Amino acid sequence: MKIDQVNIRALIPADIDSIMSIDAVSFVEAWTRTLWEKELSRSDRVYLAVSLKEQLIGYVGGLVIEKDFHIMTIATKTDFRSQGVASFLLQALLKKLIQMPKEIDGVTLEVRASNESAKALYRKFGFAPVGIRRGYYQSNGEDALIMWLHGLSKTSFLTKLQHAENSLALESDIQGVS
Ligand SMILES: CC(C)(COP(=O)(O)OP(=O)(O)OC[C@H]1O[C@@H](n2cnc3c(N)ncnc32)[C@H](O)[C@@H]1OP(=O)(O)O)[C@@H](O)C(=O)NCCC(=O)NCCS
Repeated sequence: MKIDQVNIRALIPADIDSIMSIDAVSFVEAWTRTLWEKELSRSDRVYLAVSLKEQLIGYVGGLVIEKDFHIMTIATKTDFRSQGVASFLLQALLKKLIQMPKEIDGVTLEVRASNESAKALYRKFGFAPVGIRRGYYQSNGEDALIMWLHGLSKTSFLTKLQHAENSLALESDIQGVS
């Protein structure tokens, strides 16, 4: 199954059951149904889904604050991890942000200090660590690393993203329980 056979679209309320089952095995502090319903109803949010044969296999999203975008969540269904799904999502999100009528220049997020796979994913896209929020995660008091990606509005960024898009389309195979 090639990555060009997956479909990127907006997350919709009908996805919430699938989202919550991915969340349950992905996050210690998973969002409630009410929070997801609120998030998906707000116009300042951008949430993208990646699906394979109608099955939700990953999602990403967050909110616009002034000229920046704050990624609030990203996850890939466990059977489909380490096959480029989150990279595909992040690349689609960045492309969408670049194309928005309102100019977005930076993207930020918080990540658990111990979450090596997520940190590697973000570094791959040029995110850099800029600070630490001590004890940010209530479940275990773990620190959050604050990461930023700047310069989305520059033409050079679009070119870089295009290269990333081409290599994803050429190299990736998606395998899993579908
Ligand atoms: C983090 C997460 C979204 C990555 O999703 P994914 O679809 O497996 O990611 P990709 O296959 O696109 O991998 C992208 C990069 O992440 C890194 N990565 C992915 N899996 C990794 C692993 N098991 N160990 C180390 N690095 C890893 C690599 O740098 C990889 O790039 P490469 O394949 O070119 O080496 C996924 O592990 C997940 O859902 N985790 C639980 C939720 C979570 O922690 N979200 C982040 C909150 S801040």
